[in-house]
Parts: sequence; C-alpha cells; structure tokens
Amino acid sequence: MIVETPVILGAGYYDVGQIGAFTTINIGRYSNEESSKVYIDAKQIGRFCMFAKNIKIGLANHPTDFISPHMMFRYDSKAIFFDNYMKKGKLPEWEKTISATNKARSRKELPVIGNDVWIGADAIVLNGVTLGDGAIIAAGSVVTHDVSPYEIVGGNPAHHIKYRFEEKIVKQLCSIKWWEYGPDILYGLNQGDIDQCLHSLQQRIDEGFPRYVSKVIEYNLTKAVK
Ligand SMILES: CC(C)(COP(=O)(O)OP(=O)(O)OC[C@H]1O[C@@H](n2cnc3c(N)ncnc32)[C@H](O)[C@@H]1OP(=O)(O)O)[C@@H](O)C(=O)NCCC(=O)NCCS
Repeated sequence: MIVETPVILGAGYYDVGQIGAFTTINIGRYSNEESSKVYIDAKQIGRFCMFAKNIKIGLANHPTDFISPHMMFRYDSKAIFFDNYMKKGKLPEWEKTISATNKARSRKELPVIGNDVWIGADAIVLNGVTLGDGAIIAAGSVVTHDVSPYEIVGGNPAHHIKYRFEEKIVKQLCSIKWWEYGPDILYGLNQGDIDQCLHSLQQRIDEGFPRYVSKVIEYNLTKAVK
C-alpha cells in the first residue's frame, strides 16, 4: 500500500494500492466507535477524498452462476474452510477441478476512486466500480455502476441524482485537475463561485504554480488502523 502524505485514516481495514494526499477517511466525531469502522479494498484512491464512517469498498464477489457461491468451493480458496470434509482433506485436488475460464469469469476488478470524491456515511461501493473525479456518493447508497466525474448518485442501487456543475464547468475542472497542485492553489478563492474559481485557478497555473509533490510512504503489511 503506497500512501502519499499527508492523509488521515480512521479506524478500519485498508488494503489499497495507493491513497492520494489530503484524503481523510472516517475521522468524524464517531470515528472511534466500533460501528464506524471502514472496510476498504481498492486499487486506487485519489487526492482530497473524504470518506465518512462505516463505508465499505470492494467487497469480495463470488460467482453467482456456479452451483454454489460458497467460498469453500472457489478456485482460489486456499481454504482452511472445512478441509476435513472435502474429499477427505485433499483441497488442492478440488482446486484443479475448477477451470481457468471459471477463474477469470468470477473476478471483478477492485474499485478505482478518483480525486475529490466524497462518500457519505454507511455507503457501499462494490467491486468493478470506478468513481470519477469530484463524484459524490449519498449517505447509505449501494453503488453498483461507474459514477461519472462530478456526478452525485444515491440510493440502493445508486442512481443518478444530479451533476454538481454544468457540463462545460465539469470539463474545465477535469482539465485543470486542481488537486495536482495541493491545497494552496485554492487559497483565498471564493469557493462558492465556480466561474471565478476556474478563472483564478487557470491564472495561477499559467503563472507557474508548482505541482504538489508529496512524500510517499510504503506499507507492506495489512493494515488494520485502530
Ligand atoms: C447526496 C447529498 C450530498 C445531496 O445533497 P444536496 O445536494 O443538498 O441534495 P438534496 O438534499 O437537495 O437532494 C437532492 C435529491 O437527492 C435525494 N437524496 C439526498 N440524499 C440521498 C440519499 N442519501 N440517498 C438517496 N437519495 C438522496 C433527495 O431525496 C433529492 O431527491 P428529489 O430531487 O427527488 O427530491 C446528501 O444528501 C448526502 O447524502 N450527504 C452525505 C452526508 C454524510 O454522509 N455525511 C457524513 C459526514 S462526511
């Protein structure tokens, strides 16, 4: 797990390829409660993301069209599960019986999460999903499909609620990528005035505003943050 600094990670389980700088996860006033813990198994999380309590990302998927989805029969079950009951403890032989095609078919990619993404409390993001830059996931949602940049989705299954800005603005934001410059690039801007913000951001970038280079820390082990 590669982490750009600084980030603030609250209690939970983390198995993430890379987490971008200035991302905060489960740091609210309930973050110490057991029920607030997060579970995150993702390929990548961008910068300036804000994830609330008790979110779950990247829950393992099991094949729905096998005779049973139970993990004890799965191809990659290095299982210790019920070994004694499976052909008298010959688990490796079980594994050989599952074809390569089935192996490929039953896997979905881990979620990929862009920059400046806000995930509301108690939301679930399933495997195979990409959340675009600037996306917002409403509290309590179950996200089963990709979410476009600056789209707000909500519900179970999550559906389109609205875009945060009109299409022209979204295109500009996706091209400017302000998160590459760190927080100082937003200094003094009237955050509620998107036109003025975009104008000032472009000006600052044109004048040579430096990109934010973060110190990177690599963790080798899994990752229960208490
Ligand atoms: C998604 C959210 C950001 C939308 O806020 P908003 O822009 O002020 O939008 P509105 O309240 O005007 O709601 C817009 C629509 O979305 C719907 N909606 C809002 N929250 C929803 C939710 N959690 N699930 C499903 N639909 C939701 C509303 O019912 C409304 O639908 P309608 O237009 O049919 O009436 C907000 O509702 C939310 O979920 N915030 C997360 C809060 C949270 O978890 N905070 C933790 C601390 S970080």
